[in-house]
Amino acid sequence: MDTLRALELRHSVRSYTDQPLSGDVLTALQKLVAKANQDGGLHIQLVLDRPKAFRSLLARIGGFKNTKNYFALIAKKNKGEELGYYGQKIVLEAQKLGLNTCWVGGTVGKDPDAYDVDRGEKLFGVIAVGYGTTQGHPHESKKLDDVVKGKDLPDWFVSGAEAALLAPTAMNRQPFTLSLEKKDKVALGKASGLDKGIVKYNFEVGAASKGCKNVKWK
Ligand SMILES: Cc1cc2nc3c(=O)[nH]c(=O)nc-3n(C[C@H](O)[C@H](O)[C@H](O)COP(=O)(O)O)c2cc1C
Repeated sequence: MDTLRALELRHSVRSYTDQPLSGDVLTALQKLVAKANQDGGLHIQLVLDRPKAFRSLLARIGGFKNTKNYFALIAKKNKGEELGYYGQKIVLEAQKLGLNTCWVGGTVGKDPDAYDVDRGEKLFGVIAVGYGTTQGHPHESKKLDDVVKGKDLPDWFVSGAEAALLAPTAMNRQPFTLSLEKKDKVALGKASGLDKGIVKYNFEVGAASKGCKNVKWK
């Protein structure tokens, strides 16, 4: 499965089967984490078989069921965008491995013994991961015209923007605008923190599918 297809098939999944993460799949996830941490200067940790963070009333009301594996999104306090970018890369690779995921900010409880937060770092949120009981469903979305400024835009830009609209964002707010500036630079407005990095990664996957392998961000 190519990355664009994984991006199209990904939806938040909050309910998981008992199938554990093991063997080659587990090894692949651990490699993805190590690479993301190396490339982004991050401290993401894969936490296995720790349901505590999802046992709160809030999590249960929010639909989390049998959620016990997650990526703890830990980094220096100014690294929200990088966590979003590399976290979404892990999400799409996990989708290719046959797994399901859900980004989680507000509805996650604390389980501080499950991961290490070094000095100057914080836990920004988690990404639940496992074998879903469903594949989720497409989110309601803004239209291209709501987020894109400009006319007669190249195919790669339109494809990037369409992929950005498929990105997970906190409370599905889709808080971003995209425009094409001089010298083919792409300006991403409004979004911040995790959302900003997630949207950037999705845009790059969409743009790459139409031949733009190196998006220049303004
Ligand atoms: C930064 C971030 C935080 C999120 N926090 C939560 C959360 O606390 N609880 C939850 O159920 N979903 C959470 N989500 C998932 C979003 O609600 C979901 O991505 C959005 O509704 C779009 O749906 P989709 O992921 O199926 O495309 C979060 C997503 C992001 C990107």
